[in-house]
Amino acid sequence: MKELLNKNDEASRPIGVFDSGVGGLTVVKELNRLLPNEKIIYFGDTGRVPYGNKSKETIIHYSLQVAYFLMKKKIKMLVVACNTASSVSLPTLKRHFHIPIIGVIEPGARSAIETTLKNKIGVIGTLGTVRSNAYKKALKKIKGNVNVFQDPCPLFVHLAEDGWNKNKIAKMVADEYLKPLKDKNIDTLILGCTHYPLLKDVIQKSVGNKVVLIDSGKETAKEVKRILEKKRLANNHKMTEKNHSVFYVSDFPHKFKEVSQRFLSKELKHVHKVIL
Ligand code: DGL
Repeated sequence: MKELLNKNDEASRPIGVFDSGVGGLTVVKELNRLLPNEKIIYFGDTGRVPYGNKSKETIIHYSLQVAYFLMKKKIKMLVVACNTASSVSLPTLKRHFHIPIIGVIEPGARSAIETTLKNKIGVIGTLGTVRSNAYKKALKKIKGNVNVFQDPCPLFVHLAEDGWNKNKIAKMVADEYLKPLKDKNIDTLILGCTHYPLLKDVIQKSVGNKVVLIDSGKETAKEVKRILEKKRLANNHKMTEKNHSVFYVSDFPHKFKEVSQRFLSKELKHVHKVIL
């Protein structure tokens, strides 16, 4: 009986989600759709975005700071909704904290392997993610002979943060970045940065309709659901007004609210600025 009560208590705790900025909202959107009873505590490190061009040590340092902040909110699971942080910080985070922790790389890689017919997969991400070869390793681990072509697209993060995701500048940048991958004749493209699904339309136009875009946010949300159910940590009680999700950022809460509203098509009421 006591064990059951403890489990119920644990299940009612929030899920912690973090990214360097608005990108992780692409994961939140899928989590809300798939797990509507789950309360989310989100942290967007908008004061220090982008992570993608920082050193490994700095990204690990930032990730630990954010994870400590979220742990104090008594989260039951941590989702690293940032490819850059997932690529370099996951092992350190797993050593420090004893709750389920997942990143976005493996779910995205699995889905790409299931999708490709030509065995040719493109990966776009930040400089940090591409340099780490995290996707290449994850893809090759599942299928040794898969052909992987990577390309960093750092400007996409700024375009997404500023809400410039559908205009002609975004299209021009996408055409320029994606031409080399198009020439490789890929049939599957991993959006290896959680900011990129915000630019999905222009990316799809640039690579053409025959290329399937893999949004790791979707796959990650499925993985979260699987883990929560397996560990009997899923919340079965309906979310109430009191028990709403909360969003923290390290700077510019208004800008975050504005971009998130455009993306999630709803207003985020609870956005707070915190200094870590
Ligand atoms: N959204 C992040 C990612 O998935 C990082 C973008 C950045 O801060 O450079 O990689």
